[in-house]
Formats: sequence, C-alpha cells, structure tokens
Amino acid sequence: MFLVETIEDLRNKIDALKDDGTLGFVPTMGALHMGHISLVEKAVLENQITVVSIFVNPNQFNDKSDLEKYPRTLEADLKLLKDTGCNIVFAPDAKVIYPKKDTRKFDFGPLESIMEGKHRPGHFNGVAQVVSRLFEIVKPKKAYFGLKDFQQLAIIKNMVKQLDLQVQIVPCDIIREKSGLAMSSRNELLTAEERKNAAVISDTLFKTKELSKKKSVQELKSWMVETINKNKYLSVEYVEIVDDIQLQPVNSWDENSAKVACVAAFCGKVRLIDNIVLTD
Ligand code: PAJ
Repeated sequence: MFLVETIEDLRNKIDALKDDGTLGFVPTMGALHMGHISLVEKAVLENQITVVSIFVNPNQFNDKSDLEKYPRTLEADLKLLKDTGCNIVFAPDAKVIYPKKDTRKFDFGPLESIMEGKHRPGHFNGVAQVVSRLFEIVKPKKAYFGLKDFQQLAIIKNMVKQLDLQVQIVPCDIIREKSGLAMSSRNELLTAEERKNAAVISDTLFKTKELSKKKSVQELKSWMVETINKNKYLSVEYVEIVDDIQLQPVNSWDENSAKVACVAAFCGKVRLIDNIVLTD
C-alpha cells in the first residue's frame, strides 16, 4: 500500500499498477473506523485498484470549531487500511485540492433545502466541490459512499448527473457499534458516558421502524423528538421522515415511495446523525 500526497505521485502509482479500467475510490476525512473500512473492503472486492483519500475538507465545515476539533489520526488510519487490500492512500494538502479558491456554486434545489442542507448552510456545496475535484484527480470507475450520510449520497448522485461524470456511485450499508450507535469519526469526541447514551438515537430509530405501522407520520415524529430529548445527554436538532428519492418530507404512509427516518441530535457538544429505512 502506497501513501501519496501529490497528484503526480498518485498518477504515477496508478499507472504502475496498470489500471485496467476498474478503479474503485473511497473518499474519506480520515479518523477511520469499521464503517469506512466496510466501504474499502467492498471497493477492493469489486475493482483491480482501490484508492482511499484522506482529506479533512475545510470547505464543507460551516462551523470553524467543528473543523478544528475534527480528529486527525493518519498513522492509525494507515494501520487499519493495511490489511484491507487498498492499494493507494491519497492524503493531500489543501493546496493540492484547492490550488486556487474554489468559487463554484452548485444548485441542488429542494435536495439541499432540508435536514443537513438547512442546518449546515454551505455544507453540501463544499462536499460537491471536494468530491468533484477528487473525482477529477483520481478518475474512478466506481466510488463508494455510506448510507449513514443518506442526504450526502443523494447530493453526490445529483452532482454526478449535473456534471455528466462517468463514475458509478455505489451506496453502502450503515455499520453500527454493538450498542447500535452508527459508527462515526465524531464518536471519538464523546465521553464514555455520552457514548453509552448516544445509542438512544439508534434505539429510537429501530423502534420508529416498528411503530411506523401503528402511528401517523406526525405522531411518530413527535414521539421520536420526545424519546430522544428525554435523555439528558441528548438534544434533537431535527427529525424528518422523507421519501428516498427526492428526500422531501412525507405526510402520510400511503405515498408511493420508500420512507426514511432521519435524525440529527447533539450528544453534549458533538453533533451526530443517523437514519433508517422504514419500508422493507
Ligand atoms: P467521512 O465522514 O470520513 O465519511 C467517508 C465515507 O464513509 C462516507 O461515504 C460516509 O457515508 C461513510 N461512512 C461513515 N460512517 C459510516 C458508517 N457507520 N457506515 C457506513 N458508512 C459510513 O463523508 C465524508 O467523510 C465527507 O463528506 C467526504 C465524502 C469524504 C467529502 O469530504
């Protein structure tokens, strides 16, 4: 496995590995856990060459202190990646990704007007900037994204369409801790006590799925907020039940689409997101 920091080194290593046209790419911000590794393993299975990028993208952080606090653990990340079969780790400096300021403005319409888009202004624009730039540099055939960031996945698919890129986006299941808590780099910022209590978020989502047959959409959303906020460590930022295509809030169960329940909640000072598909 090679660690490269420049575009030239990256292209040289890809050429040396004789890219046969099946290059799989997993973009990450590092602080890797088994959620990330599951994406890498899938990419390794499906491609001749697998590239993982590690880059904490300043353009997608709407909160400066969130960017500063974001865990950076390159050595541990490389250790985790070593046994996956990943060929190249691309860990560039910001100047490599943004040789000059990226001023592009994407328009994702209603896709970005709710949930993460609404609560983190500019976030998805920054995600689209970095992912399109990484695609331009790495030139993958397939790129792997987790359903943990369900709205991000929809944004990336939309971006690929808008820019007419020749890359296949592969969605990957959410990987959870034993407690049910969705794995996240941000979990490392929780105290042991907070981490235990954070599992109330996933517990609530699992029960939401069961209750979706018994309660109306509005009743269920209120129940989710109450159940999570009852825990003294947790505070809901939003809950939403949306269709899985346009990601628009639904008002009843009988509309013609799969429904996904999404939550963002603070556990202490750490902001966590999670979701569950309600329809089998
Ligand atoms: P990051 O949060 O590091 O996540 C990298 C990828 O891992 C994303 O596709 C995310 O959905 C996936 N992932 C994270 N936790 C997961 C889990 N528990 N189960 C399954 N997949 C999981 O998402 C980003 O970075 C950035 O926005 C990025 C796309 C790299 C652009 O900067």
